Amino acid sequence: MTGRRVMVTGAFSNIGSATARELLARGHDVSTLTNRVPADGDDPRIERHALRFDRDHLIASLRGAQVLVNTYWIRFPHGGATFEHAVERSALLFDAAREAGVERIVHVSVSNASLDSPLAYYSGKARVEEALRAAGPSWSIVRPTLVVGPRDVLTSNIAWFLRRFPAIAVPRGAGYRLQPVLIDDVARLLVERVESVIEDVVDAAGPDVLGFDEYIRVLARSIGRSPKLLRMPPRVMLAALGLAGVPLRDTILTPEELWGLRDELLVSRAPATGESSVVEWLLEHGDRWFGHDYVNDTVSRFDAASA
Ligand SMILES: NC(=O)c1ccc[n+]([C@@H]2O[C@H](COP(=O)([O-])OP(=O)(O)OC[C@H]3O[C@@H](n4cnc5c(N)ncnc54)[C@H](OP(=O)(O)O)[C@@H]3O)[C@@H](O)[C@H]2O)c1
Repeated sequence: MTGRRVMVTGAFSNIGSATARELLARGHDVSTLTNRVPADGDDPRIERHALRFDRDHLIASLRGAQVLVNTYWIRFPHGGATFEHAVERSALLFDAAREAGVERIVHVSVSNASLDSPLAYYSGKARVEEALRAAGPSWSIVRPTLVVGPRDVLTSNIAWFLRRFPAIAVPRGAGYRLQPVLIDDVARLLVERVESVIEDVVDAAGPDVLGFDEYIRVLARSIGRSPKLLRMPPRVMLAALGLAGVPLRDTILTPEELWGLRDELLVSRAPATGESSVVEWLLEHGDRWFGHDYVNDTVSRFDAASA
């Protein structure tokens, strides 16, 4: 296939950066909507537009793109930005893409997104999927479980704690299995859909299914630690992490993330689509990438923006 002109939201962020790299490697042309500057390893050829939810600005930025890869979402509500706003902004982005002549939108959702979910993260993601289907351009949806890769915030911050403390809190009770997927597998699934015309919904989930405590042990082993696991009732664990987040000025783990984990929403109900074992990847690369610095999502996104 000849190279396509692809707009990627967040090409200097987590999933977007891996996707941009894969697109460029396959001969596509990439531009991005982002509020970040390129980091080490980001390709300087990627043309940058501000990720600003103004319809005219979005249309102008998207004009000329054939495909939009949308990764936009918020991890948690903060400073007046809610999941409701994120749904509205996503619909605005899709409408602007249609108006700009974008033919196809490849969208990143989440495993087990559902309109019926009591969790606003998961029901919001399902509403965005609905908006995408109604938007007009051809579409495809990739629904990842827990995505693991060098720019991953959650795994890196768990490793930060593991490097500094001899014990770590884990939730007590049934559930809490996850099926992590390597970021390169997610990027591959997305780029395959950039190059296709099929409208489909596919989970991005790797071959390993393991308990959260087992995941912590693998991560700890990868960085040469063997922590004591403090099994806590989940609400006590959330409260403890809330307190730990005060001096860090961050939300370490959101209630939505913990309840999603408890309900095993990060486990796919379909056969694995990821080829690489995250467990093997962590044991080989975890020490290089994870836990050296604390990655503060709140300060970098919200407080910096309002400063
Ligand atoms: N990471 C995971 O484990 C995981 C698992 C399942 C599903 N997903 C889904 O995958 C998608 C991408 O995730 P990711 O980890 O790659 O996310 P990310 O790097 O944090 O952000 C993706 C995009 O959203 C923008 N964004 C994030 N928070 C924002 C905020 N508060 N205000 C304005 N813009 C914001 C980013 O802007 P900048 O470009 O300016 O950074 C970027 O363009 C999301 O839809 C997420 O729900 C992720």
